[in-house]
Amino acid sequence: MDKNLNVLLVDRDENSRSIVKAYLSELEGVGIAAEFSDSESVFNLAAESGKCIVLIDTSENLDKAVNEIKTIKSLNKDAFIIAMSNRSSADIVIKVMRAGAKEFILKPIIKTEFLEILNNTITDINSEENKDSCKIISTFSNKGGIGKTSIAVNLAVELAQMTKEKVALIDLNLQLGDVATFLDLTPPFAMDYIADNINNLDGEELLKTMTRYKNTSLYVIADPLNIDKSKDITAEQIENILAALKKTFSYIVIDIGTNIDSKTIKALDFSDLILLIAIVNLPAIRSTQRCMELFDKLGYNADKIKLVLNRYMGNEDIKTADIEEVVKQKVYWKIPNNYLIMMSAINKGVPVNEINPDSNVALNYKDFASKISDCLITQKLSKNYNRETRI
Ligand SMILES: Nc1ncnc2c1ncn2[C@@H]1O[C@H](COP(=O)(O)OP(=O)(O)O)[C@@H](O)[C@H]1O
Ligand SMILES: [Mg+2]
Repeated sequence: MDKNLNVLLVDRDENSRSIVKAYLSELEGVGIAAEFSDSESVFNLAAESGKCIVLIDTSENLDKAVNEIKTIKSLNKDAFIIAMSNRSSADIVIKVMRAGAKEFILKPIIKTEFLEILNNTITDINSEENKDSCKIISTFSNKGGIGKTSIAVNLAVELAQMTKEKVALIDLNLQLGDVATFLDLTPPFAMDYIADNINNLDGEELLKTMTRYKNTSLYVIADPLNIDKSKDITAEQIENILAALKKTFSYIVIDIGTNIDSKTIKALDFSDLILLIAIVNLPAIRSTQRCMELFDKLGYNADKIKLVLNRYMGNEDIKTADIEEVVKQKVYWKIPNNYLIMMSAINKGVPVNEINPDSNVALNYKDFASKISDCLITQKLSKNYNRETRI
């Protein structure tokens, strides 16, 4: 390896710094650039370090550390921040990761764990792609009129507003999708153009072909304007588009639609979370049960599927426990019924929070976006981090 990645180490505890340095010395491709006992002095160096790793201890004052992580991230977007702490709760981990840390290491540091996380980090940084950092969420049901598009659109808007990170929203209802209408967009390019050209579009160019929603970090790929074009789009092209988007976006939200074909299955396979949407009536619940059977056949882990009840009123004849028993899946989230606001949003071509941010549905979508983002963070951690039982 011709060039080492610089590591900036911030830890008040000298003993802990020595341990980290000793472990780092066993790794190839990294070298300690500087160590600090307090974080103020790290900012200047972090700002000019380009691609680097910042190991920062957050044990003493979590709120202060969270702000410091945000500052480092704003000064250097290529800094790969790893937070360390002698405490571990889901709350702490989520706070530091939301601030911009990519990994979390629990103290006392276990050598094998430390080396594994650092090795993965070095590979990620060097491969430029950082594959794990983009999460794909899709809305699915084999019935129409359930709320899939409403949920995909409002969730994508909330995720973009909450995280300020880039969110892609894709309409996979390749014949007569609604996403562009729900956001009142007239995309100059749609899925057919992007599919045909995906092998020639680099990150910046791909972004230019997508349609940005107002001044937000949300970018849309709409269904083809001409229905005939949709049949020419292949599952392989969908895979290539998702792979390309993963390099630029933090979240991809896909409105999958009701069709089950090789394209939608490709998108479902790629999804980290599938929001299986149901409403509380017998036919919808039966369909949901069938979707679960399909997911079982496709070999999906139960954890990937989140059952969402839309248009929930709370006074239904069918109880949540009955649904859970039939569908064999816990209800993950309930979205209240509010036809007036939802229709008004659709007719005006805006998300519900632009109609009334204090309405029950707008507030519910906001909480839903937080819950999903937290869930994805903990999902990633339990994959990388085998002491999750301590979180
Ligand atoms: N939470 C809700 N409360 C009331 N009506 C809703 C809610 N969510 C969606 N709807 C309505 O349900 C209808 C279908 O929604 P849509 O998102 O187009 O479903 P799908 O994409 O599954 O066909 C729309 O008229 C929409 O206004
Ligand atoms: Mg729809």
